[in-house]
Amino acid sequence: MRNIKDEPNLNQKKVLLRLDLNVPLNNGKITDTTRIDKILPTIKFLLKNNAKIIILSHIGRPKGKVIEELSLKPICESLENKLNQDIRLISKNIKELKSADLFDAHNEKIVILENLRFYEEEEKNDNVFAKHLASLADIYVNDAFSCSHRSHASILEITKFISSYAGLQLSLEINALNKITSEIQRPVTCIIGGSKISTKINIIKNLITKFDNIIIVGGMANNILKYKGYEIGKSIQENNCDQIIEEIFFVSKKEKCKVIYPEDVLVGKDLHGLPETKELDNISKDELILDIGPKTIKIINQLIEESNTILWNGPAGYFENPSFSKGSVEIAKKIVEKNKENKIFSVAGGGDTVALLNKMGVTSHFNFVSTAGGAFLEYLEGKELPGIKALN
Ligand code: 3PG
Repeated sequence: MRNIKDEPNLNQKKVLLRLDLNVPLNNGKITDTTRIDKILPTIKFLLKNNAKIIILSHIGRPKGKVIEELSLKPICESLENKLNQDIRLISKNIKELKSADLFDAHNEKIVILENLRFYEEEEKNDNVFAKHLASLADIYVNDAFSCSHRSHASILEITKFISSYAGLQLSLEINALNKITSEIQRPVTCIIGGSKISTKINIIKNLITKFDNIIIVGGMANNILKYKGYEIGKSIQENNCDQIIEEIFFVSKKEKCKVIYPEDVLVGKDLHGLPETKELDNISKDELILDIGPKTIKIINQLIEESNTILWNGPAGYFENPSFSKGSVEIAKKIVEKNKENKIFSVAGGGDTVALLNKMGVTSHFNFVSTAGGAFLEYLEGKELPGIKALN
């Protein structure tokens, strides 16, 4: 894989820089800037070498529609502040943009194109869209490890049309994860939570063969509880998951990997409501499961105590409301406690998980923190990610 540092001449070259600036937002305000902070060295390196930078990113899942709340505007402003540099957000239809429109008549060094997922061609890995993006620049850099599991136009197809390189952060993450997975110490426990059920549920089956314990919390756990016959009320869930859940339990038995899911939960009437601890057979139709309960926390903490390695992606509940953050916070505290005693190797990944750790101020007590969530899990699965394969 060629790294951008290997390119001898970047002077005045136009560089398409694919980043993952999909940061958590609350009412238009960025609540965690880790994904922005991590890519600053790549931007600074390109500026130092007199390159002209065209930033590409998505935010959220607008599914091919222009959704104002998913504009990259707040991210553009945050980058401007961090770099102390003017950055123009180009909202013009990307399909009508020409290379000459960029940096023309301005003394600009960085521009950002508006949310790529406003165009359905992006997620369809559309050949014409990718070719058009490529025509805007001389060089392409993928510094979005956390999107490299997506076969999308700006990640995969684009590399067919333009000289392509890995960015500094992408290389750093891959090297770190390579080292971690090759030196892993058993027992290994993997905690998977968060709300992106469809992305993660199919990965679990392949992870079973690699780990000793898999703890399922967050949105995916709701699907498991439903499969087990419990009422889950208005909780988030994914349709048609019973077959894959059946396979997960079948393979886990065969491979002697323990699959742990909540034994009690915290529910609320809505996301902003107050918490109530519930046994699984006592959840009402008008309630949402928003966190794990005290019995479950105890079980998880015991497993962390017995593990030598912890891999964690996705919070245990809706931690944005402090009433439902206890499960995630207690998991983090237990890992940190063991890490301080040097008794565990801990890796966390994903936008929300990293935001939680930053909020708690405990990020430095994890051995490695990856910006990636879904990509991190697929990497652990042993898959070659499409975006990385394309660079290779
Ligand atoms: C992420 O947050 O993991 C990446 O930005 C990818 O987002 P996606 O799951 O919507 O493709």
